[in-house]
Amino acid sequence: MILPITIIGNAVLRKKADPVSKDYPELKELIANMFETMRKSEGVGLAAPQVGVSLRLFVIDASPMTDDENDTFTKTFIRACINPEIVEFFGNKVGYNEGCLSVPGLHEDVTRPDGVKVKYYDEDFNLHEETLTGPTARVFQHEYDHLEGVLFTDKVGLLRRKLIKNKLVNISKGKFEHTYKVKLN
Ligand code: NI
Repeated sequence: MILPITIIGNAVLRKKADPVSKDYPELKELIANMFETMRKSEGVGLAAPQVGVSLRLFVIDASPMTDDENDTFTKTFIRACINPEIVEFFGNKVGYNEGCLSVPGLHEDVTRPDGVKVKYYDEDFNLHEETLTGPTARVFQHEYDHLEGVLFTDKVGLLRRKLIKNKLVNISKGKFEHTYKVKLN
């Protein structure tokens, strides 16, 4: 089932999300719906607050993030991450032009560490530990921020942030073009 995507200005995007308990009802169905919604809207990641659910859960399909056929790690990086943690940041801080399904039509450069060590549970509540670099580290950090109530627009440089302020207000009022179902307030 395709779920409507919450848009900047919706309070759920600014809440610190709650941990997921093992007995959360219909968790697998929620995850399947999130994957379906993400793919339909051509996103590479989608966090539960973006479908109006304040839980520490996100899905990622990083395969469109690289054109390098040799980068099989990124090409096959499809994950549902429950109660994720970033254990360590490492590597150089690098810029990348980010976007977000909750901020339609806006792309801005964001600087983040190139690598992260992470922990998360999969949909069967098996614990995973992984070391990510490049595109997968980028999307993991972006999605993790959603669980803390942080959007990528908070992390753009000060001057750009001033310049996009009105644009963000307009987006929160629904003044944008979109090809997927959205939910304002
Ligand atoms: Ni996002």
